[in-house]
Amino acid sequence: MERTFLMIKPDAVQRNLIGEVVSRIENKGLKLVAAKLFQANEELAKEHYSEHVEKPFFNGLVDFITSGPVFAMVVEGNNVVEVTRTLVGETNPAKAAPGTIRGDYGVDLGRNIIHGSDSNESAKREIGLWFNDAELNDYKLNN
Ligand code: CMP
Repeated sequence: MERTFLMIKPDAVQRNLIGEVVSRIENKGLKLVAAKLFQANEELAKEHYSEHVEKPFFNGLVDFITSGPVFAMVVEGNNVVEVTRTLVGETNPAKAAPGTIRGDYGVDLGRNIIHGSDSNESAKREIGLWFNDAELNDYKLNN
């Protein structure tokens, strides 16, 4: 069973969309292993997005992610990275299909509602950055 890291970004928290987004994850049949409303500092945001450090949008991205609380989650399921990437939709909400989270709730590339790990490797790295082991719940989902 794989795990992934999902983060509802400050734009969606501000718009009271946490419930809508979490519902989609639960309705899909995925298991929430950890979740927290959390204000990231600059160090964590820079580390999380370190692969984009050379990009022109890097500083703006770090400013945005630290501008307010995010809702960080660890989600578990079969092929969960692929399944959640399909649920989330394309990075640019203007191009994301209707029915996806970004397609239904966003228009702006920078403020694109949610982040999801793009591989099992990134998932491991990102889960380790945002959560400690004690925050990861071990329980059985009876559904
Ligand atoms: P995310 O999946 O969180 O991973 C990197 C983020 O960078 C991405 O979602 C976008 O929100 C953001 N991003 C990517 N390209 C651009 C861009 N050209 N301008 C601003 N933000 C961008």
